Amino acid sequence: MSGLQNFDPYFRMIPNGISENTKKELLALAKEPDAFVDNSYKISFFRHPDKLQKYAPYGVAQLLKITEGDGTIHKDRNRYNEYDGTYMPRKSVINYPLTDNPADTVWYDDDKNEVARTVYGNHAAILHVGECYHGVDYNGKEPRIVFQLCFAEGLNDTWNLWNEELYSLSI
Ligand SMILES: [Fe+2]
Repeated sequence: MSGLQNFDPYFRMIPNGISENTKKELLALAKEPDAFVDNSYKISFFRHPDKLQKYAPYGVAQLLKITEGDGTIHKDRNRYNEYDGTYMPRKSVINYPLTDNPADTVWYDDDKNEVARTVYGNHAAILHVGECYHGVDYNGKEPRIVFQLCFAEGLNDTWNLWNEELYSLSI
């Protein structure tokens, strides 16, 4: 994994293992009317994640969309989707950008000082969203749509899972 940025305890970069075909299918789902529901972080969640689970070889699949800036700095919490009851663990996630020029994930310490940035380029990243304060530096141009595999385990466990099981899979 040399050359890819790893920044404990916040994130680890990995290759973006989503096939072009899956990317097209996910973006088509994302463009359906009323596909997303807003939440208080200015990050919209896909309304019916049960439609996405066939794309999750591990973890729980979710799509997120951002179309505005000034999102709140936050830590994620495990939750049930209120529309279809899908349990959405959020301690760590594998975050696969589906759109070009994806906005950075910005990381903060417990005093909310910026300490790191995930700059995606063409890569994906494992993010410690349940343990570390973060936000998105939305650039205000195209909507930023990401596909995520969500886990109840922390960064190290998801990193180990990726190395043992997921690195060779194309979703
Ligand atoms: Fe978050």
